[in-house]
Amino acid sequence: MVTTGLPNFANYPLKYRKSLLKRGGGPSLNLMPELSWNHVCQVREHWKGNLIVKGILRKEDALKAIDVGAQGIVISNHGGRMFDSSVPPIEVLREIADSVGHELTVLADSSIQRGSDIFKLIAAGAKAVLVGRSMLYATAAGGRQGAMQMMQILSDELAMTMDLSGCRTLADIDESLLFRGQY
Ligand SMILES: Cc1cc2nc3c(=O)[nH]c(=O)nc-3n(C[C@H](O)[C@H](O)[C@H](O)COP(=O)(O)O)c2cc1C
Repeated sequence: MVTTGLPNFANYPLKYRKSLLKRGGGPSLNLMPELSWNHVCQVREHWKGNLIVKGILRKEDALKAIDVGAQGIVISNHGGRMFDSSVPPIEVLREIADSVGHELTVLADSSIQRGSDIFKLIAAGAKAVLVGRSMLYATAAGGRQGAMQMMQILSDELAMTMDLSGCRTLADIDESLLFRGQY
């Protein structure tokens, strides 16, 4: 911390990065309550590559993502960090994937901590999953090597879950392997 300061978001402009020694702090990056689909349209106009909209949790918004010209969506509640009462992705994935999966690449994240978590989101309709905090923790603990090790653990656990569920390939993982009833 003395030499390089507090860890910061590298993608933030310098004036928004917090410092241990800066009193009062500078401007902070607050949420934008007025953020709307119009902003996504603006991004679409400026960005000609693949556009992926993250944070979708219902079918209507997934359909909207198609309307604005996105190629993919991430079903995500951002790990429940901002709003811990938000719906878990696994509860809404199936309906969304069934509605838009033929037109959009449907990804998912939030609270992947084991390989079996990956298995469940894929069974619920995700093409692939993203990992947030596990990657940060692993990197903090062991740098690049730690991150590689974390991914290997998740990969081994996923392979084990597939073996125990009779799946040879990712394509074999489907909804029938999920138990959604009550114990
Ligand atoms: C420190 C931190 C900052 C984050 N900032 C953002 C952000 O600015 N925008 C966003 O869409 N998600 C943000 N996320 C959420 C992640 O992109 C991701 O959706 C979430 O961490 C996935 O859940 P997991 O951490 O349980 O794997 C952030 C997550 C962390 C841990």
